Amino acid sequence: MAIERTFSIIKPDATARNLTGAINAIIEKAGLRIVAQKRIQMTRAQAETFYAVHKSRPFFGELVDFMISAPVVVQVLQGEGAIAKYRDVMGATDPSKAADGTIRKVHAKSIGENSVHGSDAAETAAIEIAQFFSGNEIVG
Ligand code: CMP
Repeated sequence: MAIERTFSIIKPDATARNLTGAINAIIEKAGLRIVAQKRIQMTRAQAETFYAVHKSRPFFGELVDFMISAPVVVQVLQGEGAIAKYRDVMGATDPSKAADGTIRKVHAKSIGENSVHGSDAAETAAIEIAQFFSGNEIVG
């Protein structure tokens, strides 16, 4: 399987509970390498751009408000089949449906406050990474 990069966000509910290290431990144990990482306060404009695909969904306003409610940690993860692997490691969007041992099963609070985001495909991974990182910030 090819070496891929995927984009990850450790969301406000997790940074507020000091879970960055605990989540990173799960990521690294799964064999994914954190090749870029920074803690930022997302602006409303950044969050609206990032989640533009969900603009017409009823939860869009709530989602943007949540994403700017506290700092987030944005990351690039690298590894074999990293996009699908990270989605497995995160677990289902709704933590009540997530498999045992996944980040969302262990740490997420609700479908909205679900601790982490991960890209869903190679094209979106490239777009999401480019929104937050320049090439020289990613060191594999
Ligand atoms: P994420 O993987 O970041 O992509 C879109 C996000 O929208 C998703 O995780 C959830 O946090 C959020 N989301 C999806 N469905 C709902 C919902 N029904 N109510 C609130 N937030 C939602």
